[in-house]
Amino acid sequence: MKTEGKNTIFICCFTLIILKIMPNFNLFKTILDCKLFERAAILFIFTANKVNYGLINTKMNITTKYLGLELKNPIIIGASNLVTDIKMLQSLEEAGAAAIVYKSLFEEQINLENLQMQEDMDEYANRNAEMISIFPQDIYEAGPDEFLMHFKEARKAISIPLIASLNAVFDDTWYEWAKKLEDAGADALELNFYNNPREFDMEGRAIIREELDVIAGVKKTVNIPVSVKLSAFYTNPLYVFKEMDKKGVDGLVLFNRLFQPDININSEKMNYPYNLSSGQDNRLPLRYAGMLFGQLNCDVCANTGIFNAEDVIKMILAGADTVQVVSTLYKHGPQQIQKILEDMEIWMANKQYDSLSEFRGKLSMKNVKDPFAYRRAQYVDILMRSAEIFKQYPIL
Ligand SMILES: Cc1cc2nc3c(=O)[nH]c(=O)nc-3n(C[C@H](O)[C@H](O)[C@H](O)COP(=O)(O)O)c2cc1C
Repeated sequence: MKTEGKNTIFICCFTLIILKIMPNFNLFKTILDCKLFERAAILFIFTANKVNYGLINTKMNITTKYLGLELKNPIIIGASNLVTDIKMLQSLEEAGAAAIVYKSLFEEQINLENLQMQEDMDEYANRNAEMISIFPQDIYEAGPDEFLMHFKEARKAISIPLIASLNAVFDDTWYEWAKKLEDAGADALELNFYNNPREFDMEGRAIIREELDVIAGVKKTVNIPVSVKLSAFYTNPLYVFKEMDKKGVDGLVLFNRLFQPDININSEKMNYPYNLSSGQDNRLPLRYAGMLFGQLNCDVCANTGIFNAEDVIKMILAGADTVQVVSTLYKHGPQQIQKILEDMEIWMANKQYDSLSEFRGKLSMKNVKDPFAYRRAQYVDILMRSAEIFKQYPIL
């Protein structure tokens, strides 16, 4: 009896260790080899593990739909220079990425000669300088045909959806290249409305009207789904999102990270650093994902400042359908995707969620119990209680 007791303890400890280091080991084969009492003990540990520690890979359903595409999980790789390298694309797919947005094709790449001839046109000259400083020369200088060739190679190299991204200026360029990207095999098209205003004479509503017209025109031109990647700097972003939704856009990517110049006080010159995001940057997309849940027909993809599983889970709790990540890959490499997915599953097991839809939008404006969340009153409340709140930051 004593030996049997020891055996049981040994088998239980062994099972626990195996479960920790090999979440997918063949539990049933082990059970068949044991006595009844030991089987019960193993099953008890297995269940306790699942419920309390979430150490088991239960093959939960983390699939999601975005732009009509069935994605195996909510993690999309955002447009960046990482994705122009075929080996990196394959590593991202292997690490678990559900879809990839290819680097944007810019108007400057398409109409470089025209734009150089029109250097005196402030709008493009300014934008040109901005684009050159953000994006490395080799990519930027590649002409549109070379771009299409690289895009087609990328499409062949991976099996997950590849989304093309376009940042044009002229209407004709939007439509012509939207079609060319569709023909090159894009599964969807992201319109990169990178808009960092500089003109004093252009009314906000003119910019919005232009963007809405482009959406309508591109939707008529292509048959693939179309999303828009936006900045948050509209007077009332919610109105703009609603109007874009009415034009039939399939998804909103909230938000692009707009480039801001800096000043070097020693050289007394402008400089153009491109800093990666920080963890704090995801509050804005979080808020808008929370406000948009259940309000529009199109999907919402949260972007900027999403680094780990906690950030992804927050976005889904707010109501996002998917997220896009870039900075976290520059900082931690492609394996970060696998880590995010594993940590998400552990959290879901702990919370006993079997699918994303069980908690998507649980903390959205529509569903949240706190009547002050997402409202102005919350801001007022914070300011009224500022003395108390800011006690954590003592003035030295
Ligand atoms: C080096 C680099 C290149 C980028 N290129 C593009 C681009 O071509 N098109 C685009 O829409 N966004 C581009 N982005 C912006 C990212 O897609 C993303 O929106 C931004 O980095 C915020 O996400 P993150 O906080 O996960 O980095 C680029 C970002 C970086 C760091």
